[in-house]
Amino acid sequence: MGWETWLFPVAEKDTIVCLDFTSRLLSWSSRPAMALRDRVAGIHRVPGDKSITHRALMLAALAPGRSRIAGALTSLDARSTARVLRALGAEISTLRASQDVTVRGKARFAPPHLRLHCGNSGTTARLMLGLLAGHRFSSILTGDGSLRRRPMRRVTDPLRVMGASVEDRGNDGLPLEMQGGRLHPLDWRMEVPSAQVKSALLLAGMAGGVPVTLRGGSGTRDHTERMLGYFGFDVASRGDILRFTPTGKLAPFALSVPGDPSSAIFLIASALLAGSGEIEVTGVGLNPTRTGYLAVLAQMGALLAVETQDSSFGEPLGSIVARASTLKAVDVPAELIPGIIDEVPMLACLAARAEGTSRFRSVQELRVKESDRLAMLVRNLRAVGVEATADGDDLIVQGTDAHLAGRVVTGGDHRIAMAFEVLGRLPGSAIRVDDPECAAVSFPGFASALRRLTGAGQ
Ligand code: S3P
Repeated sequence: MGWETWLFPVAEKDTIVCLDFTSRLLSWSSRPAMALRDRVAGIHRVPGDKSITHRALMLAALAPGRSRIAGALTSLDARSTARVLRALGAEISTLRASQDVTVRGKARFAPPHLRLHCGNSGTTARLMLGLLAGHRFSSILTGDGSLRRRPMRRVTDPLRVMGASVEDRGNDGLPLEMQGGRLHPLDWRMEVPSAQVKSALLLAGMAGGVPVTLRGGSGTRDHTERMLGYFGFDVASRGDILRFTPTGKLAPFALSVPGDPSSAIFLIASALLAGSGEIEVTGVGLNPTRTGYLAVLAQMGALLAVETQDSSFGEPLGSIVARASTLKAVDVPAELIPGIIDEVPMLACLAARAEGTSRFRSVQELRVKESDRLAMLVRNLRAVGVEATADGDDLIVQGTDAHLAGRVVTGGDHRIAMAFEVLGRLPGSAIRVDDPECAAVSFPGFASALRRLTGAGQ
C-alpha cells in the first residue's frame, strides 16, 4: 500500500485506522496483540508543544503590551527561551506547570547586559539569532556542551547576507556574537529542510521589516508561518517556495498551546506495545506538518484513531486513540523525514519490536540534534540486543521479540532517554537508561506520565 493511501481513512479486515483528521473510528476489530506488557488504559494529556511555546514567548516579547499563554511548556528548553527574552527586556512570569504565562512585551528588544544562554535548546538559539539580526545592537549567544556543538552557519550565513554581522570562533557553533543591523531582503535556498532555519529567517524578515523568499523547506513544521499569518504578515507558500512580506504588526494576544505531538508519541508507543488496552491522548496538536509519525505508525499496522476537535491560533488539536497492536516493519522514504525528525528515535525503538527489517531513509539530520542521534540509536539498540546499523545516511533496524537488556547512554539527549524508557517497560526487559532525568528538557513529568498508562501512577 502506498503512502498516499494514509491520507484517507483506511479500513482493512483487521485494522481500522483514521488519518484524515476529521472523523473518529472507534469500532475496533479485535486482534490478538503480542502479549508484551500489562494493560494500558485511560485518558491522558501531554505538556504543551515545545515549538509553539518558543514562538509564542518570542512573539509576545515583541508585542507591546500584555499577552497570556495558556498550556505553555514549562520544560528546561522553554525556560531557556524565557530567560533569554527576559535578558532582552521582556517581563515574563515564572514558567510553572498548569499556570498561564504572562508576558509584557515591548516593540523592540533592549541590549542585553549578559550573555544569552540558550541552554540545550537549538530552537532558542536559532530563532533568537533571526530576531536579533533585526536589532541594532550586539549580543553574545551561548549554550550547553551539546548546543555548542550544533551547526549555526545554516542560520548565520543567510543572516550575514541580510546585513547582520556575526562573529563566531571559526567552528560553526556557539558561542557567537551577533551584531544586528539594517537588513536587506533575502532570497535564499536552504541547504537542509529545517523549520528552525526557516523560522529564523522569517523572524529576521519580521524584525527587520524586509521581505524574505525561502526555497527548500518543504515538509518542515509551519508554526511560524501560521503565527505570523495571524498577525497580518503575508506568508505564502507555493510548492517549494515560501514568500514572506512584512505587512503585519504584532499585538498582545491570548493563546492556548496544544499538547506536544512529539511528546505524545512516547505514550502512544507504550500503548501500541502493551499486551492489551487502549489510551486516549487529548488536547494534542494535530498540525499536519507534525502528524507524519501517525502515517508511519499506521503503515506499521498500529491501531490508531484521530479526531480533530478544535483549533487554537490556527493550530488544529484533538485526540489520538492508540490501541495495543502487532507491528510490522516499515520503509520510511526520505521525503517524510523532515516532518518526523523528532519522532525517529521512538519510531526506531518501535521498529525494534516490529516484525521484519525497517529502514529510515536519509536521516542524516539526526547527526546534528541534541546528540548524534543516528549513532546513539545504533549504539543503544545494539546495547540492548537489537540489530541496528547506519547504512550511509539510512538507519536500519531489525525487529525482535527477544527480551531486551543492557545499558543505554543518552548523552543527555531527552528523546533518546524517553524512547528507551518506553522499551524498558516491556515485561522481561532489563534496560537501564543512564540519565532518565534529561526527559525534563521537553517532557516534565515523563516518568509519572508513563506510569499512569498502566494505572501505576494514580
Ligand atoms: C524545531 C524544528 C525541528 C526539531 C526541533 C524543533 C522547531 O528541527 O527537530 O526539535 O521548533 O522549529 P529542524 O530545524 O531540523 O526542522
